[in-house]
Amino acid sequence: MIQNAFVIPEVNDLPSDPCLMVIFGASGDLTKRLLLPSLFNLYCDGLLPPAFAILGMAIDEFTDESYREKMTRDVQKYSRRDSFDDAAWARFSGNIHYQQGSFDDEAAFNQLQQTLTLLDERYGTGGNILFYMATPPAVFGMISSGLQTVGLQNGHSGWRRIIVEKPFGSDLPSAQALNREILTYWREEQIYRIDHYLGKEPVQNLLAFRFANGMFEPLWNRTHIDHIQITSTEQVGVEWRGNYYDKSGVVRDMLQNHLFQMMAYLCMEPPTSFESEAIRNEKYKVLSAVRIMKPEEVQRNTVRGQYGEGLNEDETPAKAYRQEMHVAPDSNTETFAAIKLRIDNWRWHGVPVFLRSGKGLKTKSTEIVVQFRRAPEFTFRGTPAVDQLEANQLIFHIQPNQGIELRFLAKRPGPSMHMRKVNMHFEYEEAFEAQPGTGYETMLYDCMRGDASLFSRSDLVETSWRIVQPILDEWSKEKADDFPNYPFGSWGPKAAFALPQPGHRRWLARSPRQAVGRVPMFEGCGKSMLNDLAMMLKPRVFNAGDEIACYGSLGSELYIIDKGQVEIVDKKGNVKAELGDGKVFGELSLLVTKKRRASVRALTYCSIYTLDKRDFNMVLKDRPEFAERVMQVARERYDVIVSASDLMADQSDDG
Ligand code: BG6
Repeated sequence: MIQNAFVIPEVNDLPSDPCLMVIFGASGDLTKRLLLPSLFNLYCDGLLPPAFAILGMAIDEFTDESYREKMTRDVQKYSRRDSFDDAAWARFSGNIHYQQGSFDDEAAFNQLQQTLTLLDERYGTGGNILFYMATPPAVFGMISSGLQTVGLQNGHSGWRRIIVEKPFGSDLPSAQALNREILTYWREEQIYRIDHYLGKEPVQNLLAFRFANGMFEPLWNRTHIDHIQITSTEQVGVEWRGNYYDKSGVVRDMLQNHLFQMMAYLCMEPPTSFESEAIRNEKYKVLSAVRIMKPEEVQRNTVRGQYGEGLNEDETPAKAYRQEMHVAPDSNTETFAAIKLRIDNWRWHGVPVFLRSGKGLKTKSTEIVVQFRRAPEFTFRGTPAVDQLEANQLIFHIQPNQGIELRFLAKRPGPSMHMRKVNMHFEYEEAFEAQPGTGYETMLYDCMRGDASLFSRSDLVETSWRIVQPILDEWSKEKADDFPNYPFGSWGPKAAFALPQPGHRRWLARSPRQAVGRVPMFEGCGKSMLNDLAMMLKPRVFNAGDEIACYGSLGSELYIIDKGQVEIVDKKGNVKAELGDGKVFGELSLLVTKKRRASVRALTYCSIYTLDKRDFNMVLKDRPEFAERVMQVARERYDVIVSASDLMADQSDDG
């Protein structure tokens, strides 16, 4: 599994322009975790020019030597290369320099100007300088002003560019103000607003997929597509970033930038060329077609959440958001959001786009689902397939798995017309030779070559803020009275699961493969069967006190508890048992149609996968050997005798 693939360069990928790169905020986290490892990756892959040097600037005291030593330790720690090439690092790090200085100190900029003149002569970088603002946005203006005072923002020779990190503003007015401020020092074409999601290969591939493959474009519209889902979840909490995050929240941190960028790639019109302005114009058009919610629509179209105490992956206790460092104990900041957007143009009218992101969730992954409209069923009337039709789904796996999957229906071999969901897979790892990267390599390389396609323009940033502004406004007006509303390590708040409506729209189940592996009845069944079953799992969430299954009702599904605690209650109301993570109930209802002999109630928040009997039967029909095994397990484990004819009878009931 590769985190971010940085594909080995083709012969015609030339090294970028000679240049000096100045990093403001050089002692910070971004520099050590992402910037330096990415630059080193570019160096190892021959994509940095021979004339290249780095000058780090920050308030901390370092000499060139001590800064290099620190970077050596950090890059060894954070580099994701297969093996760390010490000799290459020794050559590369020889070109790293450091200058201590405060961003409000004119003398520091004078000294910077002198140092850069010397380095330019020494390395022969032709006056080209890239300034990287790895700092909070509050000092972008101060740094720009410092550079202007010493004439560094425009050179007599060579180019001058700046890369600015997100967050670019914290709402529409502040983003507009920041744009105005930066544009007083720099021309728009000198400004590269970075969104590292666009450096991810599978995100860039969205454009290739859509516009280089003639078969998809005719389908890419409201006539054929039912809805779109974009989900990007993280396992970690806010870690050490409470100071920033508590003023931000997930809408500002992830949706307004990363998720909107992916949505723009997925939904924009074909650009007339791959020139940066052509692409950015189309992105701007589609984002400006997103319907701005009225205040009264916000509640209907959004769900917010905040994580409470829970468990880390290794089962150790995890803190609630409100207990994190630098977070207010009564914080109203959302760590989860799900929103439904509409795009008001001809292509997308009537096709909702669902976006979801959060921290403190079960998995770290990013996926995009394009769900097509279901085929009309009349052709299959009078055949079992009429109840088995499901919508096709095209799934872009962005991370950690990188690939594309197409789910469609196939006729099950045999005399009658039965359908079953199957899938086709493309995996980057299998198709391409790739080195693990950070996503920043492409961005840095493109900027050094003057290609701004992957970077945001001021109008794009402002349009994105315009979309989220009513949500931020409404949420800040009223405190969320149910916070925290999901435990750390779970799937997020229950309400988010009701957002995609009507019923045939539901979020894609995340990591369901492990879940089916937990069901005793499925022990020993092969990989492909587990995959088939996993595709059929439906994710559901219950809050403490909710009734999950009711005594006397006809059971028709199996439940797998991913997280949470339930109690089994008999008809007299006596608690018979409690079940927790990884436990399963209702499996017998997959085998026989019987009224439930107990109720099941959620004692805590529960994230649960369900497997419908109807879906299960489709798999079972194809695997007679497995049906036999299931009957045997039922006999041994549950003391239930299920005959082959019972099974068949049940299956035919199900059509
Ligand atoms: C950053 C956010 O932009 O993206 C972080 O500020 C988040 O909060 C990160 O963790 C996620 O990026 P990735 O590439 O790990 O998905």
